[in-house]
Amino acid sequence: MKNGQPPEDENSDQDPHTVESLGVTSYGASTRAPRGDYSRNGQVKADYTCAQDYAGYTEADHDTYRRLHARQSALLVGRACDEFITALPALDQSGRAAHRIPRFDDINERLFKATGWQLVAVPGLIPEVAFFTLLSQRRFPVTDWIRTPQEFDYIVEPDIFHDLFGHVPLLFNPVFADHLQAYGAGGLKAHRLGACEQLSRLYWYTIEFGLIQQQGQLRAYGAGILSSSGELVHALSSQAPQRIALALLRAMRTRYKIDSYQQTYFVIDSFSQLFDMTAPDFTPFYRQLKNMSELAADASLAEDERMSPRLN
Ligand SMILES: [Fe+2]
Repeated sequence: MKNGQPPEDENSDQDPHTVESLGVTSYGASTRAPRGDYSRNGQVKADYTCAQDYAGYTEADHDTYRRLHARQSALLVGRACDEFITALPALDQSGRAAHRIPRFDDINERLFKATGWQLVAVPGLIPEVAFFTLLSQRRFPVTDWIRTPQEFDYIVEPDIFHDLFGHVPLLFNPVFADHLQAYGAGGLKAHRLGACEQLSRLYWYTIEFGLIQQQGQLRAYGAGILSSSGELVHALSSQAPQRIALALLRAMRTRYKIDSYQQTYFVIDSFSQLFDMTAPDFTPFYRQLKNMSELAADASLAEDERMSPRLN
């Protein structure tokens, strides 16, 4: 559910896929080819960005977006973090519920004024270096195609609903926006140090599937949760997964599932806690991690600070 990150599946040891026409080799362990049209008649640039194919959306596509937006918005109050709820109307020019797929150019006018970020369209998953580079430039890659009606409830790959609805509201928050740029710069450094896998786990367990304590309750801030009706309820209220206070090395050791609900969620007290925690140079952490074993997605350690699910 995240763009640019090599999907990790602890049950798979397949070779990475290659998009030969673009020389892409970093899609990670997956038996499926990356979804999306990477040719676009030569319109995809070297940095993997392209124009949003707005004319290509059908009325059925717009209807899928409208229905996804309506269902998810109704579930968010009291479950999403306050910052997300506050910023969500900024996706829609009128501030009302979306009836059409938004135009990136329209959002960009408001987003740039708020935090200096811009959305850029991409045809699908992109390699990690391209992804980190865009983030470091305050350019957020958004897949421009939308799922089929048959995938209404669940999709593995990031589509426009996941990327836009799930990720973009928090880009209007100045502190979070700075954090994501720093993550991009940190990702480029991790790539040089051979530590992308460890850093991608932290991204997965925070930006994609993070929980936060707010108003005395567990809330969600991760885009993979906020763009999924089923996972939103599962992450906050199910007895099945474990919820653990975020500890950097613990998260970076923990593998994750890409094709099912998470078995472990990491919880922060506040965004400032997350940003303070991730501010130091990670080089010593990567060195430490080389001597530590990986953990399964459902591993439980004695030192974990566990938290109870919400009652509703
Ligand atoms: Fe994502």
